[in-house]
This record gives sequence, C-alpha cells and structure tokens, in this order.
Amino acid sequence: MTDSYAVIGNPISHTKSPLIHTLFAQATGQDMTYTALLGNPGAFAQDVAAFRQTGGRGMNVTVPFKIDAFACATDPSERARMAGAVNALKFDGDRILAENFDGIGLTRDVTHNLSTPMRGRKVLILGAGGATRGMVMPFLAEQPAELVIANRTAATAQALVAEVLALAPGSPVRACGYADLTDAYDLVFNATSASLHAATPPVPAVAFGSGCLAYDLTYGKGLTPFLVLARDAGVTQLADGVGMLVEQAAEAFEWWRGVRPDTRDVIRQLTVPLD
Ligand code: ATR
Repeated sequence: MTDSYAVIGNPISHTKSPLIHTLFAQATGQDMTYTALLGNPGAFAQDVAAFRQTGGRGMNVTVPFKIDAFACATDPSERARMAGAVNALKFDGDRILAENFDGIGLTRDVTHNLSTPMRGRKVLILGAGGATRGMVMPFLAEQPAELVIANRTAATAQALVAEVLALAPGSPVRACGYADLTDAYDLVFNATSASLHAATPPVPAVAFGSGCLAYDLTYGKGLTPFLVLARDAGVTQLADGVGMLVEQAAEAFEWWRGVRPDTRDVIRQLTVPLD
C-alpha cells in the first residue's frame, strides 16, 4: 500500500513541502504520497488523529502548530524537548515520535552546502524565539569558539542561555541586547521574525566581520532587509533559508523512509535569486 504523509499548518497554501518530498520520493523510488493539510486552530490533536486513521505514517508541522505538536507527542526527541517545538511526527502503533529538524537542517546547509564551518569561529544569532531554540544545541555541537544570542528583549535571550547551560554546562554561549554588540562575528544568523514584517533587527555594522556569512532564515523573499543591511556593511556571502528548508525536509524523509535523498537539485529548483 502507498504510504501517506502530510504537512499541516494554517495557512498552508504557500508550503513547498509537498513539492520537496515528491521530488525526494521520485529520486529515491519511494512509494508514498505527500499532501498539504489546512489545520484547524484549537483542534490540532483531532486533525492528527484523523490523518492517522486514514493510514497516515508521518507529518511535518508548521506555523502555528509546532508547540501543539510537541504537546501531543508521546516520544519527543532531546532536540524537540530543547526547542519545546516539533516540526516532524512519525506514527508507530500508539506512539507519536516527534522531532525538530530545523536546527540540524540549518547546520547542515551552512557547514556542508555553504562550506562554512562553525568550529572555532564566532557565531551570532539574532532573536531568541522558537527558531533560535531549535538552533542552539546543533550549533554548539559544531564547537564554535563563541555563540552569542542577541535579542531585542535581552531577558528572553538570558533565560534561554540559562536553560542551555543547565543542559550543557560550560558551553561557550552567552546572551546580550543589540546595544551590547561591539565585536565582529564570522557567521551572523537572523532568526527573528522581523523579515516577515519587512523590519530589520537593529544589529550594528561592526558585528559583520570580514569574510562573514550573513544568513536569513526566511526564504523565497530575495534580499530581505537584514540581507540588505549585511550587504551594505560589506558582506559578500549572503544566504537565505532555502537550503535549511530542503535540508530539514531531507532529515525528516530519512527518518521516515530510511533513505537519504540528495538535496542539491531540489535546492537549485527552489532558489530565488538574492538581488
Ligand atoms: P519564531 O518561532 O519565528 O522564532 P517567535 O518565537 O515569536 O518566532 O520569536 C520571534 C523573535 O523575533 C523574538 O526573538 C523577537 O524578539 P523579542 O523577544 O524581543 O520579541 C524577534 N523580533 C520580532 N520582531 C523583531 C524586530 N522588529 N526587531 C528585532 N527583533 C524582532
């Protein structure tokens, strides 16, 4: 029987996940379907149960259900627990296994696709919300010299850093507000939701070190205000989140199907030029 998978979100019409997973399935010869489901706010668990009853094997979860998905998991991974949010579910009998592949997908895009190692380098994350929560542990696993989390509300970043240090004592991670940013960094990530509102996090130009990578986690919007800011500060290596999107999908696909799809062609197909 053909196995079925879906992405659930609200809104959902913009999603690229069915295209990505269908391309992966074709390339790896997997007998599966992958559809998009419009979730009902306040009824996430019921929507998941209905999909399981039709024989669904797994789901991706997107805005605004990532926290609901964590709540309905019976077996959340350590990554999912750290993030407090889930972007992939796998159904196994009565169990609901839950994962968060956003951070690991981003890490793979940066280190592998963009050939930018983090080891021994200074890394800055802007924002301390859900996206950042998923990034911190995979980034620390790459052994940066320093990981700084800057946030408009510095206290939120400090609380996140306290959680990280409780899990991983001695990690080279610290929090600050934007006004405290006086150093230069090798990699700067915009993990705020500012780009969604055409706003720019107030990061000073000095934060973009020479030869730095500036990465905006949003995708398909061309040059975001953050990327314009980075370019104007002299950064030549600019990236948006298209590679992260495809790499987190590849992680989920491998988790479900046991086969690792190649991502290069799919990333190329989905790339919107940054100009
Ligand atoms: P997500 O799940 O996308 O990370 P979130 O959890 O709502 O979304 O977090 C949004 C992040 O973007 C927060 O760090 C927020 O900063 P505050 O904690 O100070 O609210 C940040 N953010 C949103 N709009 C911003 C803006 N215009 N400038 C700077 N930071 C912004």
